[in-house]
Parts: sequence; structure tokens; C-alpha cells
Amino acid sequence: MTPADLLARRSIRKYTDEPIHADQLRAALEAAMAAPSAMHCDPWRFIIIQSQTDRDRLADALPYGQMLRHAPMGIIVCGDISVAHRNQLSYLLQDVSAAIQNLLLALHAQGLGAVWLGIHPNDDRVDAVKQAFGLPENIIPVSAIALGHPAEHPEARTRFKEAYVHYNQW
Ligand SMILES: Cc1cc2nc3c(=O)[nH]c(=O)nc-3n(C[C@H](O)[C@H](O)[C@H](O)COP(=O)(O)O)c2cc1C
Repeated sequence: MTPADLLARRSIRKYTDEPIHADQLRAALEAAMAAPSAMHCDPWRFIIIQSQTDRDRLADALPYGQMLRHAPMGIIVCGDISVAHRNQLSYLLQDVSAAIQNLLLALHAQGLGAVWLGIHPNDDRVDAVKQAFGLPENIIPVSAIALGHPAEHPEARTRFKEAYVHYNQW
């Protein structure tokens, strides 16, 4: 994957009915778990959400995740605070976010589309997801992903701003 390919990764919120194949999911999860993690603690955990009932339950908890109702699959990406480096929330969030980005890019590289759906730090969403999907106390739902074969094709684009880059000092 070249840097230019990364500019073509866009949030995809409309999907065809074609299912996600097991090998596509496996490849994306393997990429997610290849992300850097502080002290190699690998605190990421994944809940695959497939049935209409369960996707609806997840959408019920996520006000900006309604596309889950029409996606072939959702994934809840969690972190285990009991194994995160120094049991620190910041390390957990950094590690899990790196895994999420790898997951999105691996889906994109396979011609699939996905969108990142925020859960943490919204307490109402965290509590609703924990309750609905039976998460243990030490498991924090960080974000969800809706994914499928794209039924929309937003253009690649750059958001580069030279003003955001500082050289040698602020
Ligand atoms: C932490 C986080 C939370 C997000 N939450 C949502 C969400 O709840 N619903 C949604 O449709 N998009 C969500 N997004 C996707 C952003 O809106 C999207 O990435 C951004 O507008 C840039 O567009 P692009 O992904 O097409 O480049 C989220 C992205 C991040 C990183």
C-alpha cells in the first residue's frame, strides 16, 4: 500500500448486501493485531456483530451509528484495562486506536468499506454497550466499526495543511 492509497481510505456508510467473507475478516483482524502497542501489551479485544438483531442493539446504543442496521457486519473494538501498560487508560486508548486504524486500512486494502463509530468517552454509549453485550468490568468499549462492500465511493482527497507542521521547534 502506497501513501497515495491511504488518501483513498474514506468513511463508508452505505453497503451492498454482499456478506463479509471469513478470510477477509481474519485478514483485517490480523492487521489490527499487528499494530504497535505500549510494552507489547496488546490490550485490544474484538466483538464481531453479525445478526440483524445484534446490529440493531448496537445501533440503539450509538446515536451516530445508525448505518449498522444496514451493514452486513459490525465490530466492537474494546480494550482490557487489566492488561494495558501500567493499567493506564491513555495507553489502552492509544493501542486500541492504532489497532482500529490498521483494521480500517486492511478493510480498504481488500476493497471493503468501513466507518469508525465513537463510543468512548461518552459514558452513556459505554454503559449501553457494556450492558447490551455483557462486557466484564475490565473491558472498555472504545469504538465500533460498521463494515461491508461499499455502495458509495467518496473521492480520495488530501487534508494536508503545511501550517500544521512545525520544524525543529514550535
Ligand atoms: C474517534 C472517532 C469517532 C467517530 N465517530 C463517528 C460516528 O459516530 N459516526 C460516523 O458516521 N463517523 C464517525 N467517525 C468518522 C469521521 O466522521 C470521519 O473519519 C471524518 O469525518 C473524516 O472522513 P473520512 O474518514 O472519510 O476521511 C469517527 C471518527 C473517529 C476517529
